[in-house]
Amino acid sequence: MFETLTALPPDSILGLSAAFKLDPNPKKIDLGVGVYKDEQGNTPILDSVAKAQQLLLASETSKVYITPQGNQGFINGMLSLLLGEDSLILNNSRVAAVQAPGGCGALRILAELLMRIDENTTVWVSDPTWANHMPLLGDAGLTLKTYPYFDKQSASIKFDEMMDCLSKVGPKDVVLLHGCCHNPTGADLSKEQWQELAILAARVGFLPFVDTAYQGFGEGIEQDTYGLRLLTEHVDEVIVAASCSKNFGLYRERVGLAAIICKDEKTKDIAQSQIQRIARGIYSMPPSYGGALVDIILNNKDLYDLWTKEVDAMRNRMTLLREMLVTNLNNQGVDKDFSFINAQKGMFSFLCIPPEQVQILRKDHSVYFVDSSRVNIAGINHSNVEALAKAIAQTM
Ligand code: LMR
Repeated sequence: MFETLTALPPDSILGLSAAFKLDPNPKKIDLGVGVYKDEQGNTPILDSVAKAQQLLLASETSKVYITPQGNQGFINGMLSLLLGEDSLILNNSRVAAVQAPGGCGALRILAELLMRIDENTTVWVSDPTWANHMPLLGDAGLTLKTYPYFDKQSASIKFDEMMDCLSKVGPKDVVLLHGCCHNPTGADLSKEQWQELAILAARVGFLPFVDTAYQGFGEGIEQDTYGLRLLTEHVDEVIVAASCSKNFGLYRERVGLAAIICKDEKTKDIAQSQIQRIARGIYSMPPSYGGALVDIILNNKDLYDLWTKEVDAMRNRMTLLREMLVTNLNNQGVDKDFSFINAQKGMFSFLCIPPEQVQILRKDHSVYFVDSSRVNIAGINHSNVEALAKAIAQTM
């Protein structure tokens, strides 16, 4: 039966890790999959997470099922983190939410919910967007279209073109926005641009769908919610997929949140019943462990303070790595002005070089990053930055 299927190429992002592992070059450099790495190239367990694990181990008394909506302490903590402690929306009970298996699980639950509303729904995604948005949303049956976002030539956001395109979408369309640290470009909207966009969302009536996978990696944990919170002031309904993979370093534990901000409590109850049924129908209930750790961290003052310090340290280090890369590229005498890398946020930047050069870097220099020219800034360190800059300069 299965011979009727065709074999697929490796995943454009995850496939890089497999290729990297097979490369025998001891000087190989991995800037592929978006995971935070320290100076030694390790992805450590955060101290706040290690302490939460001890607390969980000492207090957990059962492995009985949790519910399809997941850990309520986790959900409440995450919603406060996203919308603010004193959020009126939360006080008015307008948010339906479930703990999801990672940000990916959250995206898929919300895609399934949109399909239940109307199977002809169109979701507009930025050009470019994270490669996995396509299967996560498209395989649910949604129609995907792109809006202009990033100009590789000038390494900047095509804001006017984006606004022009979004001003013409339908009132029942959905627009996927990156809450912060745009993946793959690292180019984020300014506050003024978010303001214009929020006004447009209210005028056109499209549903904003905010994917926020890097809260704290852009400008700060609170600051990175600017766009999301602003949208909620302008429109009654917003849907949110949040991930704890990066900012809690809980990648393999698969921890995320799917949230639906509704116009009133009654609609929230409907939405809540629907997403719980969707979760039950796909995987029944989320894994407990990672959500329990985040619950402990967000609801324990000492651990919360420690976690915020750790997030700040990761963000500040990535800012330094950006500067280090640009300085080293300049030292190699490249013609191209790479200073845009310093203005970008989070884990990623587009080098804005053609795919053929990305392939040469991989083949001849064992430098691994995505064909689009997206590099994981966190994979840079003091020991590899000079070799990296040299390889890029030679290839260009
Ligand atoms: C990435 O963009 O590299 C990460 O979000 C990992 C993934 O699943 O693609």
